[in-house]
Amino acid sequence: MSAPNPVLAAMTAHRTIRSFRPTTVPDAAIERAVRAARMAATSSWTQGYGLLQVTRRNEREALAEMTGDQTQVAKAGAFFTVNADIRRHQLVAIREGAPHANNLEVFLLVALDTALFAQNLALAFEADGWGTCFIGGLRTRLPEVCELLEIPQGVFPLFGLCVGEPAEDPDPRPRFEPDAIWSKDRCPTDDTILRQVDAHDAVAAAYYTQRGADGRNWSGGTVRKFAKPLREHLRATYEALGADFS
Ligand SMILES: Cc1cc2nc3c(=O)[nH]c(=O)nc-3n(C[C@H](O)[C@H](O)[C@H](O)COP(=O)(O)O)c2cc1C
Repeated sequence: MSAPNPVLAAMTAHRTIRSFRPTTVPDAAIERAVRAARMAATSSWTQGYGLLQVTRRNEREALAEMTGDQTQVAKAGAFFTVNADIRRHQLVAIREGAPHANNLEVFLLVALDTALFAQNLALAFEADGWGTCFIGGLRTRLPEVCELLEIPQGVFPLFGLCVGEPAEDPDPRPRFEPDAIWSKDRCPTDDTILRQVDAHDAVAAAYYTQRGADGRNWSGGTVRKFAKPLREHLRATYEALGADFS
C-alpha cells in the first residue's frame, strides 16, 4: 500500500512553471504526451476535446498580450489552446442526416471531458520532465483570440497550456488537507469548513511569508477573486461559437 508509486510521485511533485528556457518541445514529445493523455475517461466515449498548438511567433506574441501580458505564453517551448469540441459530433450528425441536440448538458459534458484530458496531458508532460502552466487568461479576451486563430463553430477554447523546459524550480503550493476535501455521507457543516479554512490560511500565510509577501493568506485572495463577476462576456462569446446554454 505504501510502496513508492511513480504516478503518485509525479502528481505530488506538480507545481506551475512560469519561466521557461527557449528549448523547443519536439513533436515526438508532444505526441507521446497526447497518446497517454487521450486515455483519460471520456463521457460515453465521445472524446469532446481538441488541442490547437500555436507555432507562429507573431501569434504567440499577440496571445501573450491578450492573456494579460503573460510572457510565458510567448516564451514557453510550446503553447496550445485546449478546446472543448462539439464540431466533430456535429459533423458526423450532419453526415448521417441526424439532429445534434445541443444544450447546457452538452457544453458541460465536453468541458468536463476537456478538463480531464488536459490534466492528464499536463501530468504526462511533467512526468517526462517538462514544466507546464495552464492559461485561464485565454478567456479574458476570447473573442480576439478566436478571431486571431480563426476558431471554427463548435470549438470552444477553455484555457491555454504552456509547456517547456523549466527555468525555475518553485516549491509546491500547499493545498487543503484531505479531510477538508473528503467527507462521508453528508457534506461538512459551515463551522467545519471555516475551521478547515483557518487551518489552511495559517499554512498559506507561512507559504507567503517565506516568499516575502507578509500578511496574505488563502481566504483573502479567494474573497478578492470572487468579489466581482468574472469575464462576463463568456456566455455571449461561447454562444457565438455555437454553444447553447438552454
Ligand atoms: C484552468 C486553470 C487556469 C489557470 N490559469 C493561469 C493563468 O492564466 N496564468 C498563470 O500564471 N497560472 C494559471 N493557472 C495556474 C494556477 O495559478 C496554479 O495552478 C495555482 O496557483 C496553484 O499553483 P500550482 O499549480 O503551482 O500548485 C491556472 C490553473 C488552472 C487549473
